Amino acid sequence: MSAADGPVDVAALEADANRSIDASSTTAELDAAESAIVGKRSAMAAAHRSLGGLDPDARRRVGQELNELRGRLEQRIAGRRSELVAVERAAALEEDRMDLTEVVTGDVRSPVVRGHRHLVTTTRDQLEDVFVAMGFNVAEGREAETDWYNFEALNIPPAHPARGMYDSFYVDLGEPETVVLRTHTSPVQIHLMEHAMAEGSLPIHSVMPGRCFRRDTADARHLPVFHQIEGLVVDHGITFGDLAGTIETFTTAYFGPDVHSRLRPAYFPFTEPSAEYEITCTICLGAGCRTCSDTGWVELGGCGMVDPAVFDAVGIDTALWSGFAFGFGIDRCAQMRHEIADMRALVENDLRFLRQF
Ligand code: PHE
Repeated sequence: MSAADGPVDVAALEADANRSIDASSTTAELDAAESAIVGKRSAMAAAHRSLGGLDPDARRRVGQELNELRGRLEQRIAGRRSELVAVERAAALEEDRMDLTEVVTGDVRSPVVRGHRHLVTTTRDQLEDVFVAMGFNVAEGREAETDWYNFEALNIPPAHPARGMYDSFYVDLGEPETVVLRTHTSPVQIHLMEHAMAEGSLPIHSVMPGRCFRRDTADARHLPVFHQIEGLVVDHGITFGDLAGTIETFTTAYFGPDVHSRLRPAYFPFTEPSAEYEITCTICLGAGCRTCSDTGWVELGGCGMVDPAVFDAVGIDTALWSGFAFGFGIDRCAQMRHEIADMRALVENDLRFLRQF
């Protein structure tokens, strides 16, 4: 490089750049250095712009030198970056490190206390057991669903009034309001039926437990994050009698012979006819209290015969197949079986409460 090449001093550019790369002591500083070295307002960019003022020979030569310099600098930046990333990772790991020797075992003053599964988890397992004993298998779905699975395939098209039953949390993904935290476990029915159609594996006898989300204010009977267990049977000649019998059998098996249940006509877009499934309020034994809003009954969920529109959405031939579905609140089941007046206790994490179960 000579003065004859004008204002471009490649060696000085390189020395300056190397100095600031080496001086960067965090990845953030290195990012800043990088944009100062090769960014739009860098000396390097200015040097490139000044090439136009050189004669063609010098322009070619200096241009090539600048390109080579850029290559060397990029390599040096990458090298420095991997050093710094390693240092920062090691620091973060050190920060997060858990000292597993902190608990002194064998000391009677601080005995090791083992936790146990949460009541809701235990309840889910018990409900699964009841249904498995009746011949159901257990399937699982996903917590974030597209509008199609949570609503449309369940015969709830956009703007359908039934959407009002489900105050939804939407996920900020794709077009607005197209991905939703599932408001019920019913979308798993659709996945199962689609799967069975693809595999040619009908009939279906499944229960599907899982976490659901609704924009509800927590109260004695509701949580915005709650659990349901869905049931779906698709087979030849299934009737409402099969549904009622299944629910009756379940009620006695899970709550014992003293708890009574009833089905009340209801509306769900994905079942026809539909019913609400209620049991005697175990807090007041039917006399009426705050937990059951003075009705003596507590709704555990909904059920009904699979609506032909749902079968159409997944391509199941309604001339050959019929089915029933239900969806019960797992937290509600726990609440009623253990006589928990206020469901919020399930999420408050008060150990005095949790240890009882
Ligand atoms: N998915 C309904 C709800 O949560 C319950 C239900 C399930 C009703 C299956 C009918 C059949 O509101």
